[in-house]
Amino acid sequence: MILRVENLYKAFGSNKVLTGVSLEIPEKSICSVVGQSGTGKSVLLKCIMGMIRPDAGSVWFKDTLLTAMEREALREVRKHFGYAFQNAALFDSMTVGENLEFPLREVLQIKNRDIIKKKVSQILDWIELPGIEKMSPGDLSGGMRKRVGVARALMLQPEVLFFDEPTTGLDPVLSETIMNLVLRVNKELGVTCIVITHDIPAAFRISDKIAFLHQGRIVAEGSPKEVAASNQEIVRDFLRISFNELTS
Ligand SMILES: Nc1ncnc2c1ncn2[C@@H]1O[C@H](COP(=O)(O)OP(=O)(O)OP(=O)(O)O)[C@@H](O)[C@H]1O
Ligand SMILES: [Mg+2]
Repeated sequence: MILRVENLYKAFGSNKVLTGVSLEIPEKSICSVVGQSGTGKSVLLKCIMGMIRPDAGSVWFKDTLLTAMEREALREVRKHFGYAFQNAALFDSMTVGENLEFPLREVLQIKNRDIIKKKVSQILDWIELPGIEKMSPGDLSGGMRKRVGVARALMLQPEVLFFDEPTTGLDPVLSETIMNLVLRVNKELGVTCIVITHDIPAAFRISDKIAFLHQGRIVAEGSPKEVAASNQEIVRDFLRISFNELTS
């Protein structure tokens, strides 16, 4: 397991959001976290990434207990994590190329211009948007922006990439493009991907593992087949509605 979450609790005042979440994420897998809006998916993700400190419970990254770490040490470990958030906005005052160079210069401290240029052009080729270095993020379509956002997260060669609703606001065709990009990040680059999504059919298509969060706990988890066969009423209802929306 690359990540292990044990008995995680998080409340905001009297709002008990996570009440004992346990979850194991196998290395180089795609794991999707699904569930109703407001149920705590983003909070869970932030706890795993170390952006929010849980009230109780543990998060392990390989053999490292993240929940016990000091801020500084945690920052080091977090270099292995990348995230492509719904609103992880690109810097609009910079070109696409400068956006992609930023983590290389600021985090990896690479100074050699040729190396930087080459890495940027390679990643743009890889996301199938070659030669757009000089464009402004403001001139990109929504789908292009998301792909560039993923590219920026990939610049630091993360071991784990977190996606919080990567397809929100995209039309079905673009959603599929982004989900296929997640699949390629996983299969071609060997990156473990943790995806929060409301696109249930896509989650079932691309994921090795699905975790269903409900009222602060994981109420169903396993392969897509196993979760689809869950006999929990809440899971069955949620899946029936999600898949029916597709055909109605
Ligand atoms: N920083 C915060 N301070 C206070 N409450 C918060 C904070 N972050 C999240 N919450 C609360 O935690 C609960 C879970 O929120 P969260 O964003 O994790 O839901 P979600 O499952 O991601 O929903 P959605 O599918 O709509 O994105 C909500 O009640 C929210 O108001
Ligand atoms: Mg959310």
